[in-house]
Amino acid sequence: MIRVARRLARSRFALPGALLLAVGLWSALSLPSGAQAASKSGSHRAHHLRGAKGPGTRTPTGAQASKPPPRTGHHVLPTPGATIFVNTKPRVTPHATACTRDAERIGYRSPKDSGSPQNSTPRYLVCSHGEVVQYGDNAIVYRLPPASYIAAGHKLFEENCSSCHLATAQGSAAAPSLRGVGPATVDFWITTGRMPAATPLQVQATEKPPRLTKRQAEEVAAWVNSLTPSAPYIPEVNLKGANLREGATLFALNCAACHTITGAGDALAYGTYAPSLHAASPQQVAEALRTGPGNMPRFTGNLSDAQVRDIVAYVTEKIQHPTNAGGFGLGGVGPVAEGFVGLLFGVGGLVLVGFWIGERAK
Ligand code: HEC
Ligand code: HEC
Repeated sequence: MIRVARRLARSRFALPGALLLAVGLWSALSLPSGAQAASKSGSHRAHHLRGAKGPGTRTPTGAQASKPPPRTGHHVLPTPGATIFVNTKPRVTPHATACTRDAERIGYRSPKDSGSPQNSTPRYLVCSHGEVVQYGDNAIVYRLPPASYIAAGHKLFEENCSSCHLATAQGSAAAPSLRGVGPATVDFWITTGRMPAATPLQVQATEKPPRLTKRQAEEVAAWVNSLTPSAPYIPEVNLKGANLREGATLFALNCAACHTITGAGDALAYGTYAPSLHAASPQQVAEALRTGPGNMPRFTGNLSDAQVRDIVAYVTEKIQHPTNAGGFGLGGVGPVAEGFVGLLFGVGGLVLVGFWIGERAK
């Protein structure tokens, strides 16, 4: 072996051979870190969110390992003082009637399986003063930010949003109306840093480190929603009991076409793009599905809350923490780039073997 290496080193093929090997090694080692650099803005956002949401909140990065995230199951318990409305016929109190009417009102235009209160399991439909404040099922609980947030939200809106969306969120030539979009939509666009936008009327407002905190996002959502109450409320996903295999199948069928099978994201038509999914929190993934930001379709009527939960679990547990059983992950940048690395190594190795045989034959 050593003799072979020595002969190879002395041959005139030593330089090209070494160069090929170096390029092959470099590309294999640098690809994953290159991909990390590309998603750097995303992880910055994750970091920012962590600060904003307070301790113990599930964050997109692996950093939550030190503090085990509380499962969102505790939201299942109604807030003290709230009335649980159970939809059984004989017990229709005036309170329950008001709640039914409110559920119909805010669920207006919301078909089945769309994150609206009509699909709520009765025991998760919670009313306070005749107003629906929480609904959902075992998989996802949707809740309204408390009414005490509204005043602060109004002030924040005037400072950060009304220049484009106008004073009562009615929209302008520079920005769409926010009437009736639902609290989840407002929360998503603020916590992902898309809003406030840098410029009016762009092709696609981009994600960036959020300017407002999570609490402020909910305050603005509370105020915007008070103008035209609407679903969906802000989802809390209970990841316990999620079916990852089901999530993988549903992801491949519904999401991979735009976001790619590894969630790295890809370009779409007319200068738009589907972003990487590596920085989204479980809540943001659920919000994206139920509200359909920008060019993304809104998933209504075809995915139940349990299925949304499975997809969220697959994205935040598998896609964001890939195990790469087959070897190096190579950044999950796709078959063409990864195949190129294989080509460099394979062909490079073959060329070297060829050189060696040629040397021996002399
Ligand atoms: C510089 C102008 C500008 C400012 C300031 C701004 N927005 Fe926007 N907003 C836009 C534009 C433009 C869009 C459409 C972007 C797109 O489709 O990618 C938009 C879209 C949105 C949407 C999505 C609406 C929908 O139906 O999909 C929400 C929600 C939103 N903005 C909320 C806010 C909030 C809340 C603030 C303040 C924190 C804010 N915006 C500040 C320009 C602005
Ligand atoms: C038709 C293409 C398309 C499909 C299908 C699609 N998306 Fe999207 N998705 C987008 C686009 C475009 C955006 C960015 C919207 C914007 O910024 O205006 C987006 C944004 C997102 C975001 C926000 C990411 C972030 O960090 O800001 C998440 C999360 C997401 N999608 C998840 C999903 C999931 C899960 C599915 C499958 C159930 C899915 N998407 C299906 C196009 C798509």
